[in-house]
Amino acid sequence: MSKGHFINRKDELKNLTHGLKRGKDYILIAPRRFGKTALAKKTLEEIKQDPNYLIIHIDLMFYSGGSIKSIAEGIINKCLNALGISGKIRQLWRQVDFSINLKLNYKDLELEPVIQLFKDGSGEDEWRLLEEALELPEKIAKKRNKKVVVFYDEFGEIDYFSERAVKVFRSVLQHHEEVNYLFAGSQETLMNKIFLDKSGAFYRFGELIYLKELTKSDVFSYIAETYPSINPEVIYEMLDLLNGHPYYTSLVLEHFISNPEISQDVNSFYQYIRTVLIPQEEAYLELQILKIKERVNALDVMRILSLKLSPYKELQLKEQQVYSTLRVLEVGGYIRKESRGIYTITDPLLEFFLRD
Ligand SMILES: Nc1ncnc2c1ncn2[C@@H]1O[C@H](COP(=O)(O)OP(=O)(O)OP(=O)(O)O)[C@@H](O)[C@H]1O
Ligand SMILES: [Mg+2]
Repeated sequence: MSKGHFINRKDELKNLTHGLKRGKDYILIAPRRFGKTALAKKTLEEIKQDPNYLIIHIDLMFYSGGSIKSIAEGIINKCLNALGISGKIRQLWRQVDFSINLKLNYKDLELEPVIQLFKDGSGEDEWRLLEEALELPEKIAKKRNKKVVVFYDEFGEIDYFSERAVKVFRSVLQHHEEVNYLFAGSQETLMNKIFLDKSGAFYRFGELIYLKELTKSDVFSYIAETYPSINPEVIYEMLDLLNGHPYYTSLVLEHFISNPEISQDVNSFYQYIRTVLIPQEEAYLELQILKIKERVNALDVMRILSLKLSPYKELQLKEQQVYSTLRVLEVGGYIRKESRGIYTITDPLLEFFLRD
């Protein structure tokens, strides 16, 4: 995480903070590294200022590839932590002072059944444990007379577990009156399937917010005002190249600050991009390319798009082949459809890398 640059997102931050406090639920959707987690964390910090609120932050990526029980376990841990109990359920339940503590201080929350289920839960019990875990925030809110905001990051991951998991989440969360939810996910198509499609389990659950790049004018004024020694021409060049992509923008800004010479003229800037930024990000770029290559023609299509040309015109492929390749790339989050037949690459550094 960067040293606290947080550019723009003022409207989103305000809407999310106020909305969640007024009882609305939200879904944040954007490609990788667009600043979903950063924005959500900022929102939670704001809400936490109000002593009537408890916040719970659960990152589902952490449990990906795990079991239903492991998700439940993660949720229980986070709920216990929100109550001020430090430690993990896996270790805690064995400790005598933990059960005394529960009886003394948390009797009202009736945590014993959850702990019992955790101890001997397996098979069908896993699902009951998940339901109990999902129920905890509402229980906490009611018994403690607080409002609770829960943030589920990387929510698309639960779809990989099973359809049943998504349905269980929905069936429990929809009854909650004292808890409001914020979800975030990076696979736009998957998130749309869950939250936007009429047949999706979370249809109409909350308001969808599609996070875009940072606006160029905001990035420009932030940098120009905060770091007047940076050459404005270099800022323009950087905006052109990186298009306000939050991750790269904040990374480059850090490099500008620690190495002022790269921000003095445009040539040094490009030299820096090629010799520092690209090598530093190479593993991530190569990983993306590897995934793109899983589909025939997809890398060719990406190369053509990186040159701002049309794959329909430039490639010796049937229209249908180009169309379905574009769809696959879109579903993977590598490109975004701007208008009919017009696609842009979501990762500006990958675009530069392919073009260069
Ligand atoms: N508003 C912002 N201003 C400046 N930098 C930002 C902003 N938002 C995000 N960043 C930078 O971009 C990086 C990536 O942001 P973040 O991890 O929130 O993205 P994400 O959308 O959650 O990505 P992923 O899908 O990979 O989880 C952060 O570490 C931070 O440095
Ligand atoms: Mg994130």
